[in-house]
Amino acid sequence: MTCLVTGATGNVGSLVTQRLIDRGDRPAVFVRDAKTARRLFGDGVEIRVGDLADISGALDGIRDLFLLNSGPDLEVRDRAAALAAKAAGGAPSGQALHAGREQRVGTGPWHARGEQAVRESGVPFTFIRASAFMSNALSWAYTMKREGVLRTSTGRGKIAFIHPDDIADVAVKALTTRAHQGKALVITGRRALTYRAMASKTGAAIGKTVRLEGISDEDARPDFEPAYADALVDIWRAIREGRLATVTDGVQRVLGRKPVTFDRWVEENAGAFRRSGTTRGK
Ligand SMILES: NC(=O)c1ccc[n+]([C@@H]2O[C@H](COP(=O)([O-])OP(=O)(O)OC[C@H]3O[C@@H](n4cnc5c(N)ncnc54)[C@H](OP(=O)(O)O)[C@@H]3O)[C@@H](O)[C@H]2O)c1
Repeated sequence: MTCLVTGATGNVGSLVTQRLIDRGDRPAVFVRDAKTARRLFGDGVEIRVGDLADISGALDGIRDLFLLNSGPDLEVRDRAAALAAKAAGGAPSGQALHAGREQRVGTGPWHARGEQAVRESGVPFTFIRASAFMSNALSWAYTMKREGVLRTSTGRGKIAFIHPDDIADVAVKALTTRAHQGKALVITGRRALTYRAMASKTGAAIGKTVRLEGISDEDARPDFEPAYADALVDIWRAIREGRLATVTDGVQRVLGRKPVTFDRWVEENAGAFRRSGTTRGK
């Protein structure tokens, strides 16, 4: 019996998978592309190929499930996966990564509906509600490198970005101890910082002065599909209005250590702000 990790080729799922391998497990990964999974994890994983619309065929021999779904309709896939896990019977602990302690903001409502679907399925669960990821800051690299500028609609608002390593550590702890079943773990970074402070830390690491340019919600709106673009503008507005500045002790309570600092993330990822092109980073 092993753990099935969804989203294993992505940011958090890949870290969760690697941690399980490092513990001596051989997790199963549920992926769309076997080649990418093999490239990332070699023979350290068992590969099960499919789409998150239906994971029912991938649950044989699975004890625990790390479930990561995205998008405005993620509740549909959360519900299907939770019901499949419940029907498979072998999965006493469905684990879901869920966003946003402030569940009314941005992508929060999508995840709130997903959590509700998982609860209604009756499968045991732990929800992980992470604050915004430090790795989002990689999207700043392009204008910082080319123009020495960060354009943002977040004003003087603060947010405690979380290091993806912290999310993965919390997820693996929850998966392997089941100490948090039935709970929603609300986790954030160590300190709430303004975008100005984070841009200045990032600039300092690459020997550059970065100028912050305030822009309107309208100008900040990215050229993504409308639901994502709306969600991001909503999050940045909430930051500006001081509604996402909360710092929790979630990481400390689960892991017995403080969250990783933004300075550490910058040290690890400074290369992405020097090189041309983009990197996903940690
Ligand atoms: N970024 C933030 O600040 C933030 C904050 C809180 C919560 N969150 C939540 O965290 C999650 C994103 O985590 P992440 O950054 O680790 O994700 P990510 O790097 O974007 O990776 C998404 C993963 O899901 C897989 N996937 C997507 N659609 C799939 C499908 N239909 N079938 C099978 N696999 C599929 C992708 O596989 P492929 O490689 O095949 O594409 C990839 O492995 C979302 O739920 C988001 O709302 C994000």
